[in-house]
Amino acid sequence: MTGPSFAPTEEQQLLQSEVRRFATERILPGAAERDAKKEFPVDILREMGDMGLLGMFVPEEYGGTGFDMVSYVTAVEEVSRACASVGVTMSVTNSVCCWPILTFGTEELKDRVLPELASGEVLGGFGLTEPGAGSDAGALRTTAKRDGDTWVLNGEKAWITNAGQAKYFVVVARTDPEAGNRGLTAFVVPSDAPGFSVGPAEHKLGLRSSLTAPLHFADCRVPASNLLGKEGQGFKIAMATLDHSRLGIAAQSVGIHQRALELARDYALEREQFGGPIADLQAIQFTLADIATELEAARVLTRCAAAVADQHQNPDAGRLASEAKLYASEAANRACYKSLQLHGGNGFHEDYEIARLYRDVRVTTIYEGTSEMQRLVIARKLLA
Ligand code: CAA
Repeated sequence: MTGPSFAPTEEQQLLQSEVRRFATERILPGAAERDAKKEFPVDILREMGDMGLLGMFVPEEYGGTGFDMVSYVTAVEEVSRACASVGVTMSVTNSVCCWPILTFGTEELKDRVLPELASGEVLGGFGLTEPGAGSDAGALRTTAKRDGDTWVLNGEKAWITNAGQAKYFVVVARTDPEAGNRGLTAFVVPSDAPGFSVGPAEHKLGLRSSLTAPLHFADCRVPASNLLGKEGQGFKIAMATLDHSRLGIAAQSVGIHQRALELARDYALEREQFGGPIADLQAIQFTLADIATELEAARVLTRCAAAVADQHQNPDAGRLASEAKLYASEAANRACYKSLQLHGGNGFHEDYEIARLYRDVRVTTIYEGTSEMQRLVIARKLLA
């Protein structure tokens, strides 16, 4: 059996160096200040739209850049190395909004919304989670009822990334109360739809310069043409979307992990104790070696899973995406813990970047499916 090749193409290398340069010069310098002020970086997102980073799967005919998955995870990693908040904003627009619209939308819908999203003129979001439906996504209670040429939505979504900034949300609602997971349907809901509103922003432990808020639907009307796939396919569309999007969170984790290693190395060389830099101490050297080894393992697994996702219809793609998300997010959490520990008391101070990373990395084992749900998905695929 031949596996995917890991040698990046010339195009992938070019993209990586372009995104790294942009992220280092434009995103990293203001990240601490934006975090402290909980400031959403509108201008940076606009520039990323101009660079084609917000419609990376969208083909050129709909205004996107049509990159492959390996390029995408490389770009998300570089952006997240500089700022994990910008990383999640980018990942959500690309993978849980543009991708399902591209994959399940009608031609008319794609023509209508994708050019706006892909250009970065507007952002996207994904409304699956509810106060009573987190890991058990199929328990969601938001309803949608057909009324002539429109669907009328009622209910609430929770923890919605980009809420307050995004113009289009892929929303899953219940259209048949008796049919369980098969009674769910997916829609594209624009933020200017009548009856749509966004609640107050959540006060989060990390990712403070990204937006997270609830969505409310009070007799919210969307045109029937905003339906994705067919009535009753909403759960499968959500699961297929997550199979794809979890690679974005794996890549975000790798980016944070990379930065945690850089900060640990720099600090170890600069900080002097016991008569010299702490990098001379074997305990510190072993810590660096462990962070670096897990980083390469997470990166290789994430790129391997992305390469498999690029081989469309490969049955291993969903399992590998969950494995990459599970491993990379847990490894990044370990790396931030160790990097902060290496910083000693200074790591506990918000003046040091590792403190922000330690807060930001925590959610990676939770959103887009907790580590426990990834293990469930992986085990079910192995046992099927
Ligand atoms: N692709 C297509 N279809 C799938 C699928 C997949 N990956 N996984 C399951 N299905 C289908 C099944 O085949 C089954 O179909 P039938 O009805 O025809 O038999 C149906 O869906 C139901 O499947 P399950 O019985 O496996 O469903 P379940 O209720 O046991 O749930 C679960 C499975 C894996 C736990 C799922 O609920 C899940 O993934 N939970 C986690 C939710 C999650 O990740 N939320 C993240 C929110 S988004 C977010 O966080 C974005 C952000 O802000 C950054």
